[in-house]
Amino acid sequence: MMKNAPTASAIRIGVFDSGLGGLSVLRSIRQRLPDARLLYVADSGHAPYGERSDDYICARSLAIAEFLFGQGAQLLVIACNTATAAAATAVRSRYPEGRIVGVEPGLKPAAALTRNGRVGVMATTGTLRSERFRLLAQAHAAHLDLRLQACTGLAAAIESGEVDAPAVRERVATHCAALREQAVDTVVLGCTHYPFVAHHIQAEMGPDVRLIDTSDAVARRTVALAGELPAMPASAAAPHARLWTTGDLGTLQDFAHRWLDFPCTLAPLDPLATPAG
Ligand code: DGL
Repeated sequence: MMKNAPTASAIRIGVFDSGLGGLSVLRSIRQRLPDARLLYVADSGHAPYGERSDDYICARSLAIAEFLFGQGAQLLVIACNTATAAAATAVRSRYPEGRIVGVEPGLKPAAALTRNGRVGVMATTGTLRSERFRLLAQAHAAHLDLRLQACTGLAAAIESGEVDAPAVRERVATHCAALREQAVDTVVLGCTHYPFVAHHIQAEMGPDVRLIDTSDAVARRTVALAGELPAMPASAAAPHARLWTTGDLGTLQDFAHRWLDFPCTLAPLDPLATPAG
């Protein structure tokens, strides 16, 4: 191969979430594209998004998209259901030529898996109240009995980084108890933070309830869009993954160490322009 010849390995993918949750998506992308350069922003200094206004989430998402495209991202993954619901349209209209992947609760796979037709959806208040979610439910779950569980406080508790902490387990227990009473046989993990507590959710719901995690579906969509990209010249010096946080660097470091099995460099990110409220 010619020295410095462009290869698919040099593709740069920007990924962001309100915080640590999007690392569940980053991990799946890395499994499918092991040679891509991954750029990740955890907006932990402004998490949780789930209880913020749409305007606030739009402003954060646009600022982070600008940062990641400025870092050379050729493709942007909004690894957050809440930000996708509130801001994907705004991000797409700001970058009409950009390749942008969003994340939505997996109602379609849930419809294929459920046997009793009762499907629980665990997600943030923001996701569940969104027009985007209403349309998704109309398209894929009109025939299902959807039981929506706004998991207040759960993403914020996971942001502590300690997924086995009592505060996290209490939140999981409360939200799962509500769904268990409703005899759902399938539970959609409609927030990218929740795969990190899937073991607790499964334990609360029981072994017969199936959990739907869309991380790998998002990674497959990312692979499809990455295939359309002109590759950039590879740089041997570039790290495989660069992670920034607007929150606590140590928390991100510990979390990445526990959950990611590939090398990352981490850096703080000064809060990007933020609206009030
Ligand atoms: N991880 C985000 C999602 O997928 C939201 C968590 C939050 O409330 O910030 O919805």
